[in-house]
Amino acid sequence: MNGSVEQTRQTYQGWDEFYNKDFDEKLDFFKFNGRMFDVIFAQQFDRPFMDYLCKIADMIRLLAQTKMGQEKLRHLLPHKRAMLYFVQPSTRTFLSFQNACYILGLSVSESRGTSTSSEVKGESSEDTIRTFASYVDLIISRHPEAGFAEKTAWVLNQTDRPVPILNGGSGPDQHPTQALLDIYTLERSFEHIGGLDGKKIAMVGDLKRGRTVRSLSYLMKNYKDVSLYYISPDIFKMKDDIINFLKKHDIPYFETDDFESVMPLVDAIYMTRIQKEYSDDPSGESDTYPEFHFKKEHLSIIQPHCTIMHPLPRRYEIEVEVDKDPRAAYWRQERNGMWIRAALIAYIFRVESEIFAEFS
Ligand code: CP
Repeated sequence: MNGSVEQTRQTYQGWDEFYNKDFDEKLDFFKFNGRMFDVIFAQQFDRPFMDYLCKIADMIRLLAQTKMGQEKLRHLLPHKRAMLYFVQPSTRTFLSFQNACYILGLSVSESRGTSTSSEVKGESSEDTIRTFASYVDLIISRHPEAGFAEKTAWVLNQTDRPVPILNGGSGPDQHPTQALLDIYTLERSFEHIGGLDGKKIAMVGDLKRGRTVRSLSYLMKNYKDVSLYYISPDIFKMKDDIINFLKKHDIPYFETDDFESVMPLVDAIYMTRIQKEYSDDPSGESDTYPEFHFKKEHLSIIQPHCTIMHPLPRRYEIEVEVDKDPRAAYWRQERNGMWIRAALIAYIFRVESEIFAEFS
């Protein structure tokens, strides 16, 4: 057999109508027995959920410090199986979900591309996901198409074997579990200064196509008196859908291309990479925009408590000399992804009370 067959495009009655609904109208569809079942977009998370999940993550982190604690965690979900379907490249999201599963005792299967599955024979992505659901209890997906996780959850929830879908990144639109780990990192960084409420957060770089800053912006509606500073070249400004969301929820925001002027004002600086992989015309873009880089010399002008974050991978946005400064949080941030994703899986399978019981 030579080459691959063009992938089948199936028509699902009702999908376009569902996809175009407001987020608020969709939320119930991704719940089961009144509780979140699929994790598709950041608008699903409210403040009680965020606080609760951070508490579970703290406890998992503490338990994982001892062999006995690790054994207790491993005995929570040994009867469950997860599928990691990552057809867009990933290092952190894949590994942190995989290790979150190991921590809780789940067995894991993986597909890291379409070239070795029956998608080569033309099977549709929806049928592929439905096939995974025949074998496993949880599907975690990363896909280059916006709306992919949402569509597969919508399809599965109408079958007799729905399994939870966790969106590990869907094109340039959403990365909701990254937003969870970002909030967890911000809350931990500010735990001695009142938490995230009232803080000023700068987001820097490719805001137009950066799904992490989009999902994190949505979550700011859950925190009191947070202001956002969007700093980017003009061609990478934050899109109108997010700006309209901020206006609707009275979240103050400022837009500028003068990074240095904002640095001393803010409590956190969230750096991002230029997402050239989504470019329609890569030749019209530079690989690097030095005025939007965080350099060693900037450490002297930011506040003593300012947290420097990055979802990673980085290119040139943060000089490696910055890594040694205690305010550089990005390596802690990626490890936090494992704890918060373990907390999320424990929540989805409703075993968090067994974790709380270890501390009562
Ligand atoms: N932050 C993030 O999503 O990293 P990966 O692309 O390596 O998963």
